[in-house]
Amino acid sequence: MNARRGLLFPSQAIRRGIERRGQHMMRTDPLTRFRALAESTVIKPKTLITGSLGQLGRGLGTMLRFMYGEESVVMTDIVKCDPNAPDVVNYSFLDVTNERAIEEAVVNNNIDTLVHFSALLSAVGEQNVPLAIEVNANASNKILEVARKHRLKVFIPSTIGAFGPTTPLEMTPDLTIQRPRTIYGVTKVYNELLGEYYAERFGVDFRCLRFPGIISATKPGGGTTDYAIQIFYDAILHGHHKCYLEPNTRLPMMYDTDCMAAIVFFLAAQQEQLSMRTYNVTGFSFTPDEIATAIRKVMPDFKITYENICPIRQKIANSWPKALADENARRDWGWHNDFDLDSTVQIMFALLESQIRPAEQTIAHQSA
Ligand SMILES: NC(=O)c1ccc[n+]([C@@H]2O[C@H](COP(=O)([O-])OP(=O)(O)OC[C@H]3O[C@@H](n4cnc5c(N)ncnc54)[C@H](O)[C@@H]3O)[C@@H](O)[C@H]2O)c1
Repeated sequence: MNARRGLLFPSQAIRRGIERRGQHMMRTDPLTRFRALAESTVIKPKTLITGSLGQLGRGLGTMLRFMYGEESVVMTDIVKCDPNAPDVVNYSFLDVTNERAIEEAVVNNNIDTLVHFSALLSAVGEQNVPLAIEVNANASNKILEVARKHRLKVFIPSTIGAFGPTTPLEMTPDLTIQRPRTIYGVTKVYNELLGEYYAERFGVDFRCLRFPGIISATKPGGGTTDYAIQIFYDAILHGHHKCYLEPNTRLPMMYDTDCMAAIVFFLAAQQEQLSMRTYNVTGFSFTPDEIATAIRKVMPDFKITYENICPIRQKIANSWPKALADENARRDWGWHNDFDLDSTVQIMFALLESQIRPAEQTIAHQSA
């Protein structure tokens, strides 16, 4: 699966896919609000993204270029990039465990905004705890130090994984008990608190959003909510998904374009609008059974089975909120999601069909 991110907002492909089904996904073009924000922004940000080749980074890079121009983004990561990837520009190696290298990248590129995406996600983190601490926690110290020295705005995402089994799990509020039981969650709580401390103590413009599982037409990076993406690949390729979570496991989720909107609108908000530095944002919640039902509206023969439940991911999922309360973000800086479950299913089919089918046709052609 290459061409991952031509997929983020191929408005025409999306509309074609939806129209083919004679359904209406949304009232407006999903890009309208991004265009309007870009047009009203006087000083365009110059953003460095760490971990930018992951699930969220490529999409944000594409969106920032769309909004603020080709030179507005510097993309960095520690993995080699396909030289033909259409969604990666101004790319260079940056290991976030090296503070001097972060500082050099910031100075050399005249950066004013840092988006720190590098992380080991929940399931991967459990397999290498020392590395998770190094990348998820110690590197954040370095990011915040560079932000302090160079007066940067800094965004570090948090997650529903920053909550735990003692958190009230129904409509979890912004301020509540946070005693996570994964190294991912522990390091994310650390990030939230350290960032808020740097804001208070040194005036660093730290901003943080707690995301639910993000659904995008890109391969996910090893989180507990990954099934909600894999299910679409399996539906299109096999008509069948073997789910590693139990059928009634309810988790909050959000479609990718809404995630990008949350980041760019939050970063564009004036400091005076913010009554806190770490906000919940969410889209909608569902169980594996419910998303399977939504998929059957598009693909009536689709099957989901549950013979291989993953005990590690199930335990993590059971300790996470079933739904998030995000009214503070809605009130303070105007956050809202455009996509619900049905429109997410429709757009995922439209995007992945155009991604997967041509590849299949090429293979069939070559082997004929
Ligand atoms: N994807 C989601 O559903 C989701 C939900 C909530 C929060 N988040 C948060 O958003 C951020 C991005 O998530 P993602 O899904 O894109 O993750 P991902 O796993 O897809 O990507 C993370 C990237 O970090 C890079 N990385 C690892 N070690 C590094 C190092 N030492 N230096 C530099 N880069 C390094 C990896 O190469 C990878 O490309 C993470 O902080 C994650 O916790 C994601």
